[in-house]
Amino acid sequence: MNLNKFYQLVSCIILAILSVGCAGISNQTTIAGPTAKGETMNQPIESQIVIAHRGASGYAPEHSLVAKAIAHTMGVDFIEQDVVMTKDNHLVVLHDPFLDRVTNVMELFPKRSRKINDEARWLAIDFTLAEIKSLDMTEGFKLDPKTQSKFSPYPLRFPLFKSSFRVSTLQEEIELIQGLNHSTGKDIGIYVEVKAPWLHRREGKDISKATLSVLKKYGYENKSDKVFFQCFDPEELKRVKQDLLTELSMDIKLVQLIAETSWNETMIESDGQLVPYNYDWMFEAGGMKEVSKYADGIGPWMPMLVSRDSAPARLTESKLLQSARDNSLLVHPYTVRKEAAQIPPFAKDFNHLLEILLNDLKVDGVFSDHPDLVLDFINDRER
Ligand code: G3P
Ligand code: CA
Repeated sequence: MNLNKFYQLVSCIILAILSVGCAGISNQTTIAGPTAKGETMNQPIESQIVIAHRGASGYAPEHSLVAKAIAHTMGVDFIEQDVVMTKDNHLVVLHDPFLDRVTNVMELFPKRSRKINDEARWLAIDFTLAEIKSLDMTEGFKLDPKTQSKFSPYPLRFPLFKSSFRVSTLQEEIELIQGLNHSTGKDIGIYVEVKAPWLHRREGKDISKATLSVLKKYGYENKSDKVFFQCFDPEELKRVKQDLLTELSMDIKLVQLIAETSWNETMIESDGQLVPYNYDWMFEAGGMKEVSKYADGIGPWMPMLVSRDSAPARLTESKLLQSARDNSLLVHPYTVRKEAAQIPPFAKDFNHLLEILLNDLKVDGVFSDHPDLVLDFINDRER
């Protein structure tokens, strides 16, 4: 028995003697409130999936095929793809609609930027696949505002512009994962996000239809297939559910990603201007019921799952989480990262974060840049 389990057992015995019940697994934090599907909190956890966020991106450049192969070897359940479209209608696996955070596009194509919010940005949608394939891809970087020199926000991750990486198409990535499934006998799934459908629509492109067509071509058609389709844009996800899946004779699992309105993740036109889509309704009464009409699950930002009451050490489940459970929605929060600066304020450290998410809140899965550490945590718990 490991130390954590010992603490759990002692806590449960003491609490049982006091006739107040054993409310949680963490020895540090109390989580109050009902749990998944009306279970009490100390019931066994049936299955929790580990999703490699942009691949094993804590170890190799995000969305590189190497990061995907590492994740596959780690034995994750799903590997994530963020997808954007090129000028010539290819689907490429990139987190941003921009190329300039993860490639040398600024150096190779200095005059091909657009001004966005007074900043020069290089959009994938302005480049052909051949042009994008000519770029070096790297771990994501930022620019020092004074010197314009590149630096990594994660200095202990893979160094910038070392070795050789290229942007991949969605097809190339699916073929890699399916090929590795074939050669290893594993059955690792894909978890595809269409990025900024509103931006693609403005350029005359239907990214959701194009992505679903590729999924169908590669055999991802039904809810029993190992695929999730995720999107931050609720109107687009409704369109997928109500129109596109029917049109393409598909029925795959859909996940509504939830953002803070202030992130400008989804933009809509209002009075001829682009304004941020307002996510407030999802947090209000009836919000999750509405989502459950078109989606199978939600992908919330981790802090959206907890709320604090007046006692500082006492965490309570958020209404959003309770309501998602009440409406039988899967809950897959993002993004678990080991770096101290990335641990949300409600957790003391990485391990405590996993205890809260996986043991106490019993989420159905997590996105992680360090999926090996999440797998270790789950395996240790089950030993
Ligand atoms: O799709 C889940 C998670 O990846 C959402 O955040 O910005 O990393 O795509 P982002
Ligand atoms: Ca994503």
